[in-house]
Amino acid sequence: MHLLLGQTLTFTADPFDAPVDACVQHETTGAVAIEAGRIVAVGPADEIRAACPDAPVTDHGGALLSPGFVDAHVHYPQTAIIASWGKRLIDWLNTYTFPEEARFADPAHAAEIAARYFDLTLAAGTTTTVSFATIHPESVDAYFTEARARGLRALAGKTCMDRNAPANLSDTAKSAYDDSKRLLEKWHGADRLGYVITPRFAPTSTPEQLEALGALWAEHPDVLMQTHLSEQHEEIAWVAELYPEARDYTDVYDRFGLIGDGALMGHAIHLTARERDRLKEAGANLIHCPTSNTFIGSGLFDMAGLKAAGHTIGLATDTGGGSSFSMLRTMAAAYEVAHLRGTVLHPAQLWWLATQGSAQSLRLGDRIGTLAPGYEADIIAVDLASTPAIAQRAARADTLWEALFPTIMMGDDRAIAATYVAGRRV
Ligand code: GUN
Ligand code: ZN
Repeated sequence: MHLLLGQTLTFTADPFDAPVDACVQHETTGAVAIEAGRIVAVGPADEIRAACPDAPVTDHGGALLSPGFVDAHVHYPQTAIIASWGKRLIDWLNTYTFPEEARFADPAHAAEIAARYFDLTLAAGTTTTVSFATIHPESVDAYFTEARARGLRALAGKTCMDRNAPANLSDTAKSAYDDSKRLLEKWHGADRLGYVITPRFAPTSTPEQLEALGALWAEHPDVLMQTHLSEQHEEIAWVAELYPEARDYTDVYDRFGLIGDGALMGHAIHLTARERDRLKEAGANLIHCPTSNTFIGSGLFDMAGLKAAGHTIGLATDTGGGSSFSMLRTMAAAYEVAHLRGTVLHPAQLWWLATQGSAQSLRLGDRIGTLAPGYEADIIAVDLASTPAIAQRAARADTLWEALFPTIMMGDDRAIAATYVAGRRV
C-alpha cells in the first residue's frame, strides 16, 4: 500500500451528457491509495490516511492527481519526423512519412525510436497509446517489447499496405493477414498489451487486403481495428476513384466487415449524413486528432454534433501528423477547433476526452482513465502553476476548472510533475 496526496479528480459520468458538477468528484486535499498496481481508495486525505496509517506517503502538494492521459491514435514510427513543413496529407506521406517508415526494416532503429517515443509520451503524462507501427513485424515487436519493459498498457498493430506505397513499404493481402495473425497471437493479452488490426487506409489497401483483414477481425472480434477515415478532401476523392462501387468512404470499410464497435476511425472529419448514421449504428469509435487536423490542414471535426448524436469519441495526438506528443496541447487544439465550429468545450469535457473518453473508445473504460477503486494505477500529478505565465493566471482562479484551463491551453511536459505506471513512479 502506498498513498499519493494532492487534489483528486474523478469523473462519475460523461460531462457531455450531464451538468459538469453532477459528473465529477473533486477533493482539494485528497489522496489515492495504491496496492499491487491498482487503485484501492480515493477520497479526502484525512479519511484515507486514517484508514491506512502505516502506508508510505508521497505528497504532491497542490498538484492535481489525474488518470494518465490516453492517446487513442498515434504513429510512433513518425516520432523523428514530427513537425515536417509544408505539405498536405498525401504529399506529406510520400515526402516525409514513407521514407522514415522504411527505416523500420532495421530492428535497431525501431528499438531506438520506440524507447524515445515512450520517454517523450510518459514525460507528457500519457500512460496509454494506440499506435500504428510500420509494415515491418519487427516494428510491432520493438513497440511492444519497450512497452512491456515499462509495464505499460499499450496497443498497436502492424500497418498493412499493398498498393500506392513504395515497394519497400508494401506487403500483400496474404502476408498482411499472416503477419497480423502471428503478431496478434504473440502479443494480444500479454501483460497489459493489446493488438490492433491495422489497415493504414483505403487508398493503400487493395480490396483483397481489406477482405483478408476483415476476415482476421471476424476470427478475433475481441481485438480492436484501427484505420483512417475522411481526413482530407483529396483523399476522399481518391477513395471514390479506387472504390467506385462503394457508396462512400465508410462503405469501403463496411463492405469488408471493417466497421463495428471495436473500430477506431481516425479523423472522421468530412462525413456525410449517411456515414454518420452508419458509424453510429455500428458503434464505431471516432478518434479526433485536432493538432493533426490543423497542422496538415484537414478540417474541423464536429465534436458537438457527433457527441450529441451519441457517437463514442476518443482524443489523440496523431503523432507525427499531429504536431505534439502532449495531450494538453491536444486538448487545447480540440478547444480551438470546436470554437471555430461555433461551440465551446468545457475544461471538464476536454479532460474527460483525454482520459475516460479515450479509454471508452478502446473498450478499456473499466480499467484505465478514471481515478477510482479497482482501476489500474496509471496516474499523473499535474502542476497547475508550471510556468510563470500559467501560474499568474491560475492564481486568479476561483474554481478547479478556472485553475486547470490555463494548463490545458498553455501547458506542456513541464506541467507533468510525476507519472505513475501501474503504481510505480517512472
Ligand atoms: N492517412 C494515412 N496514413 C496516415 C498517417 O500516417 N497520418 C495521417 N495523419 N493520416 C494518414
Ligand atoms: Zn494517423
